[in-house]
Amino acid sequence: MVSDQLLAKLNDQMNFEFYSAQAYLALAAYCSSESWEGFSHWFIRQAEEEKAHGMKIFHFINNLGKRAIVTGMESPNNEVNSLLDAFESAYAHEQEVTRRIYELSDVALNEREHATYQFLKWFVDEQVEEESTFDSLVQRLRRVGNDSNALFILDADLGKRGAVPAAE
Ligand code: FEO
Repeated sequence: MVSDQLLAKLNDQMNFEFYSAQAYLALAAYCSSESWEGFSHWFIRQAEEEKAHGMKIFHFINNLGKRAIVTGMESPNNEVNSLLDAFESAYAHEQEVTRRIYELSDVALNEREHATYQFLKWFVDEQVEEESTFDSLVQRLRRVGNDSNALFILDADLGKRGAVPAAE
C-alpha cells in the first residue's frame, strides 16, 4: 500500500518530468534562435522524452488506483546564451533529476513498497544514461570551442535524433 507521503513524492516527480520537458523546450528555442537547428531538434526530442517519463509515472499512479495531480510550474531557464551554457544547464538539471529519483527510491524502500521501488528502478537506470549523454555532449562542446566546422558537424549529427517511443 502506497502511503500518502510516497504518493505525493511520485506526483512531484511526475510534475518535475513535465517541467523537464519545458526546460528542454526553452533550450531548443535558444538553439533555434541562433539557427542551430540540429541542436534545437535534439532538445525537442529530449522534451518529448521527458513528457514520456512524466506519463510513465502518470499511468503508474492511475494503476495504483490513485489520482495524479497535475500542477502548474515555474518558468524554466530562458536565459542561456551559448550552446555550452545550454548543455551545462541541461547536465545540471539531469543531476537534480537523479537526486530526486534517489530520494524517491529511498522513501519507497523505507516503506517496503517494493512494487514502487521496482518501478523506480527503470528511472534509476535511465538516469545513468541521461547523465552520461549530457556529460559527453558538454565535453564535446568544450573540446570544439568556437570551431564552426566542428559545430556544424555536431549540429548535423544531433539533428538526426529519432522519435521517442510513447509511454505505456
Ligand atoms: Fe526524465 Fe532526463 O530525466
